[in-house]
Amino acid sequence: MSEKKPELSDAMKRKLESKKFSKNPILGTKFTIAISSAKGGVGKSSFATNLALALKKIGLKIGLLDADIYGPSVPKMFGITEKPKSDGQKLEPILKYDIQCMSIGFLTDQQTPMIWRGPMVTSAIKTFTQKVNWQNLDFIIVDMPPGTGDTQLTFSQEIKIDGAIIISTPQEVALLDVKRGIKMFDKLGVKILGLVDNMSYFLGDDGKKYNIFGKGGVKKTAEEFKKEFLCEIPINPEIGKFGDEGKPLVEANSDHEISKIYINLARKIKEIYL
Ligand SMILES: Nc1ncnc2c1ncn2[C@@H]1O[C@H](COP(=O)(O)OP(=O)(O)OP(=O)(O)O)[C@@H](O)[C@H]1O
Ligand SMILES: [Mg+2]
Repeated sequence: MSEKKPELSDAMKRKLESKKFSKNPILGTKFTIAISSAKGGVGKSSFATNLALALKKIGLKIGLLDADIYGPSVPKMFGITEKPKSDGQKLEPILKYDIQCMSIGFLTDQQTPMIWRGPMVTSAIKTFTQKVNWQNLDFIIVDMPPGTGDTQLTFSQEIKIDGAIIISTPQEVALLDVKRGIKMFDKLGVKILGLVDNMSYFLGDDGKKYNIFGKGGVKKTAEEFKKEFLCEIPINPEIGKFGDEGKPLVEANSDHEISKIYINLARKIKEIYL
């Protein structure tokens, strides 16, 4: 004889419903900031690594989580080749430049493509947020992959994001994707800290600013969606050079004009949260 299932009360149904998307803050940090943009190649990873270093320079304890499972950048940009230790329960983040770092790239051969389905990505993200021994951090900076896919959804629905920063370049094609990114976070109830205009202009030897990819588009988009416009970062080959050498610009030369932009932004972020 089959047993009749008990009817769930409305209150219990509501409780279960809310549990489905209950958000877990990352253990070991006060705040989690996601660096995002729906568009690829606009400078998210460069921004995330330099911002993490700028926050450290103003005296905060910082973690850097590379959430780009298919195309991790943190191992290269931070020059990390060692593998994280594990006690069978938790993974130890790798300490570099006084920043606690974690990336799928620490665990795999960098040239091996990750051929994973969505649920595997979700489970990797959960491991990185719940099973890493992050210690006493003020902020974890999350370098997001491009797009509006599984990683963004997992972070927004199941893990607490305290603020998202959206990076764009000024081209129309980038801005179209950025608008999609803004709408996604708004829909998922994630607070957007603001927009950053990366590769905003090129400063010539003549001291003039050249707007190679167009002018003012990111600021206009911020106004259109009533978001804060955080800063503009010029095009500078040194960003790529130092990133490729495994020591981002802010660490290599904290007096550089671009490093100062990052440090000012870091102060702003500290003021907002701490
Ligand atoms: N302000 C800048 N000036 C010059 N080069 C830059 C700047 N910002 C980023 N770059 C370069 O642009 C390229 C793409 O940057 P990055 O990898 O940070 O982008 P991304 O948005 O993280 O890309 P993906 O979507 O693939 O993760 C890199 O070679 C980087 O060095
Ligand atoms: Mg990247």
